[in-house]
Amino acid sequence: MRWVSLRTIQPNRVLAQSVLDERGRVLLARGITLTPSLIAKLRSIGVGSVSIEDEATADLVGQSFVDNELRQAMLEATYQVLHETMNGTYSKMVRPPRLRQRLQPLVLDVIDNLRRQEGASEHFGNVYLSDGELYHHSVNVTLFALAVALGLGLTESQMVDLGIGMLLHDIGKLKIPEPILKKPGKLTPEEYSLMKLHTSYGYEVLRQSPDLSATSALVSLQHHERMDGSGYPRGLAGDEIHLFGRIAGVVDVYEALTANRVYRPAHLPHEAVEVLFGGGGTQFDVNVVDAFLRTVAIYPVGMTLVLSGGYRAVVVRSPRMRTQRPVVRVIEDAAGHPVTPWEVDLSQDLTTQIIGCES
Ligand SMILES: [Fe+2]
Repeated sequence: MRWVSLRTIQPNRVLAQSVLDERGRVLLARGITLTPSLIAKLRSIGVGSVSIEDEATADLVGQSFVDNELRQAMLEATYQVLHETMNGTYSKMVRPPRLRQRLQPLVLDVIDNLRRQEGASEHFGNVYLSDGELYHHSVNVTLFALAVALGLGLTESQMVDLGIGMLLHDIGKLKIPEPILKKPGKLTPEEYSLMKLHTSYGYEVLRQSPDLSATSALVSLQHHERMDGSGYPRGLAGDEIHLFGRIAGVVDVYEALTANRVYRPAHLPHEAVEVLFGGGGTQFDVNVVDAFLRTVAIYPVGMTLVLSGGYRAVVVRSPRMRTQRPVVRVIEDAAGHPVTPWEVDLSQDLTTQIIGCES
């Protein structure tokens, strides 16, 4: 299998993995052959890339943090919980929902999945290949955060609190007017101040849930705080920011940079990593950034890359600790013609650059 962008995909490719909508429902099942009209349909609803079966990459198996079924369950639950909570809270008609009870089983499932994969030589993660929708974003950052938490040696109960907090961290955005949320381009200073309120709005809502831990709610309040005090809403610095807030800050920025947005294409994963490193110690917690790079394969197996010289290559292995320079299999020349595949270890061949990726 390999991932291809819907911008460049040819018809008659066979889907290697089902395509899910923002609530986790199957839009197109794996095994389906993509016709021109299906491709147009997928583009029109904002799907950025799909995974396909391909002769040159038939031996590759994509490794994801969780299987599609669990991902689907997380999307569905996040969607429902966010909406029920906001409707209930602001109409004051219903009792606040028991959020922990609802989300804990899913988070425990993720932790289980991550534990089973620990010790594997490589870590995975096609999770950021979906669009930037609120629900996909919430699930993506939750998976990243839990992988980081495992890398940092957090206890299971800490991981549960963190995971639940991550699923809910942007709940306050449901109170921000749509035109501001979806504005393609820079916000005015007034709009930006309003946007920043999603952190405290979220915190206020979550504190009303009778079974949610205080630290889960803190994720919403603190995920935009920065180590040097430049964040919001309170401008906290260093240890004043709870560890969960520091983890959330790193994974939230990484996910946002690598997702396609209406107003700009996604950054390359290694560019996003440079942003994190550039901010390590000043904006971001260095230990968290390190744990992130140890646990998340930023170029996952099956991702299609464009190399200097225009060659297209697919990631074959993404060894831990050097996931910024994976082993790739070259499959097409610059003119888009298939070549007899050969493999390059980019950690050895430093003259070849990654200049693009399909996501
Ligand atoms: Fe946020």
